Amino acid sequence: MAAAAAPALQLSARQLADLELLRVGGYAPLTGFMTEPEYRAVLRGMHLPDGQPWPLPITLAVDDAQAAELREGERLALVDAAGAPRGNLHVLQKYRYAKRDEARAVYRTDDEAHPGVAALYAQGGTLLGGPVSFESASAQADDPRHLTPAHLRARFQTLGWRSVVGFQTRNPIHRAHEYIQKAALEIVDGLLVHPLVGVTSDDDVPAEVRWRCYRALLDGYFPRNRVVLAALPAAMRYAGPREAVFHALVRRNYGCTHFIVGRDHAGVGNYYGTYDAQRIFAEFDPAALGITPLFFEHAFWCTACAGMGTAKTCPHDADQHVFLSGTRVRAMLRQGQRPPAEFTRPEVADVLAAAYGQD
Ligand code: ADX
Repeated sequence: MAAAAAPALQLSARQLADLELLRVGGYAPLTGFMTEPEYRAVLRGMHLPDGQPWPLPITLAVDDAQAAELREGERLALVDAAGAPRGNLHVLQKYRYAKRDEARAVYRTDDEAHPGVAALYAQGGTLLGGPVSFESASAQADDPRHLTPAHLRARFQTLGWRSVVGFQTRNPIHRAHEYIQKAALEIVDGLLVHPLVGVTSDDDVPAEVRWRCYRALLDGYFPRNRVVLAALPAAMRYAGPREAVFHALVRRNYGCTHFIVGRDHAGVGNYYGTYDAQRIFAEFDPAALGITPLFFEHAFWCTACAGMGTAKTCPHDADQHVFLSGTRVRAMLRQGQRPPAEFTRPEVADVLAAAYGQD
């Protein structure tokens, strides 16, 4: 008699993104979805039970009806929306968890208006923990822009880079981003522009449009032999400080030695202080992190300086400073106005204007 097929579990886009990052080693040292001791240790102390830093839960939630059907010890086939096999989970544990406690620990709020909290509240009430495994047929990335950690490390070596700074973004790259990238690039060998292209909030500019912006900016304003552009398939959590540390660890796994943390990194709304995502690094042993964060103050264009600066480098008053929030830029685009050259390069403004329906 043939062995019964493993029961299948269909994963959401967010869950598939986590699975992909586990597959390629982007989440090292994790090798699967968190078991209860791992989950509790991470929530409470931002470290795994063995002492390694890890600030965000990486969990696989299922609803109660699905959980009732599953048994600890069994192998589960993980499939995508089309039913295609993407990996396997060896279910070591199924356990209940308190969403509100997770929200407060990870997001510093239990407000459901926070997009990360909303996603947490929308997921199932039981978590499945255990190692994942992959068959070669399921082991291919969907997205050719996603270069694996092995691929990027080899690329950096070929380029002769011994130090590489990683840049996380979920936005088009504006002048402030470019300024801090170039400031960082002055002290390292190369720059990895590593935009996150997994699920983001509906407010964010779609990844396809952003990608055209990145190409336009890099082609026009960066030396070709100093920058690599690749996509990170992760979903955005908007967890501010904890996510900044997570973003740094993931970039370490992709071969970066340094990581840029600017103003309100991975923040949303007014949930986090402007520099909370920098301060949190003081709670970690730098050697255990294995990547050096580079902190930058809020950068802006100053009309008096006729250049970019921060409070560290510009003496002029705020009324001389050009700074636009993402919300403001999208509102301008919708009203048919192009963001000014002090805020974003004209080539990037062209891409955005075309995407938002203007010529
Ligand atoms: S994030 O959610 O990916 O952090 P965003 O794409 O806006 O959002 O930011 C990318 C990186 O640039 C983050 O490290 C952020 O802190 C930094 N950053 C964004 N805008 C500024 C700014 N005006 N000044 C300094 N750093 C900034």
